[in-house]
Amino acid sequence: MNTPIIYEAYAPSNIAFLKYWGKADEDLQWPANDSLSMSLSQLGTKTTAQRISASDHEVEFNDQSISRDHDHGKKIYKHLDFLGARFKLTTKLGIKTSNSFPTGCGIASSASGLAALTIASLAAWFDAPSFHALEEHKFFKKDIADLSRMGSGSAGRSLWGGFVLWEKSTSALLQKISQSFNHTHWDLCDSVALFSKEAKKVSSTEGHRLAWTSPLFPPRQAIIHERLQSLIDAIKHREMNKLGPIIEQEALEMHAVMMSAETPVYYFGHETSQFLAWIRQIRNTNHLPVYFTLDAGSNVHLIYEKKYKTKLIPLLEERMGKDSVLHDEVGIGPTLKTV
Ligand code: DP6
Repeated sequence: MNTPIIYEAYAPSNIAFLKYWGKADEDLQWPANDSLSMSLSQLGTKTTAQRISASDHEVEFNDQSISRDHDHGKKIYKHLDFLGARFKLTTKLGIKTSNSFPTGCGIASSASGLAALTIASLAAWFDAPSFHALEEHKFFKKDIADLSRMGSGSAGRSLWGGFVLWEKSTSALLQKISQSFNHTHWDLCDSVALFSKEAKKVSSTEGHRLAWTSPLFPPRQAIIHERLQSLIDAIKHREMNKLGPIIEQEALEMHAVMMSAETPVYYFGHETSQFLAWIRQIRNTNHLPVYFTLDAGSNVHLIYEKKYKTKLIPLLEERMGKDSVLHDEVGIGPTLKTV
C-alpha cells in the first residue's frame, strides 16, 4: 500500500491596522466594514493534513488528540465539515496542528489556524503539493481566502504576506480579500507585550454581535472609509507619523465600542492602560516612533520600523521582562509543501 502523502501548510498570524469588528451577515461572514492587516512572519500556525481511512476526521492539536467538543476542536471540525460539504468530499482527513507561539500566551490563533487548516485540507483532498497545483484545481489565493474567511473572518487575510485588505463591497458575494503591498514594501516590526495568558472571556464572534449595540458603532462606520484611505496612503508612502496615530485611534475605538456595548466587554485592564501611557511617553522622551494596536484582548502589539529595533527592545524587555514579549515582523505569507 502506498504511504499517504502528508501536506504541510504554514499560515502567519496577522495584526489588523483597521479592525474587522462587527458583521453585516454572520452566516455569510460578511463584515460590517473594510479591514486591513499586516501579516506576520514567525507567529503563525503549522498544519499537516493527510487522507485517512476512518469514519471521522482525526485532529491533533500540539500532539494531543482533540475531539469534536473540545474547545480548540470545535472550529476545526466545523470548518472541515463545511469544506467537505462544499466540495462533496467524503474522505476523512488526519490533521495535526500547532502554533509557533506558546499555547495560552494570549495570542489569538484563529486567523493563522483556520488559514493553515484550509490550505492543508484542500491540498490533501485534491493532491496538490503547492499553491500552483491548487490553482490547477481552480483554488486561487482569493478562493482559498474566501473559504478561510468562512472559518474565521480574519483568517482570509492570512493568505498573503505584506499588507492585506478585506473589502466589504456592496454585497456578501462581492466582498474581496487581496494584497495591497507585499512584504518588501515596508520593513515594519511587531513586538507583542503579553499581559494575559488566558483565553478571552468574550470571544471575537460574540464581540462582533455586541458591537452593534454600542452607540459608538454607527459613527465609527461612518468614518471608516475615510480612515482606510488615510491608512493606505500612509502605508504607500511609508509614513510612520501618519500610520501610527491611525492604528492607535482605531484600536482604542474598537475597545470603546466594546466598553459601551449593551453588555459591556472590557478586554484589557489597568496594567495594559498603564503600558499604553508608557508607550506614548517613551515615544516622546526617547524619540522613538513606536505605536500600539490591540486586538480583542489585553496584549499590546507595538508597531515600528526595523531601524528602531535595537533602541526599543532593551527598553521593552526591561519594562516587561524578556519572557513577556514576542518579537516579529512583516512576513512573506503562507507556504505549502509535502513532508
Ligand atoms: C479584533 O476573525 O476572530 O482580531 O470571524 O468570528 O472568527 P470570527 O472573528 P475573528 O475577529 C477578529 C477581530 C479582531 C480584528 C481583526 O483581526 O480585524
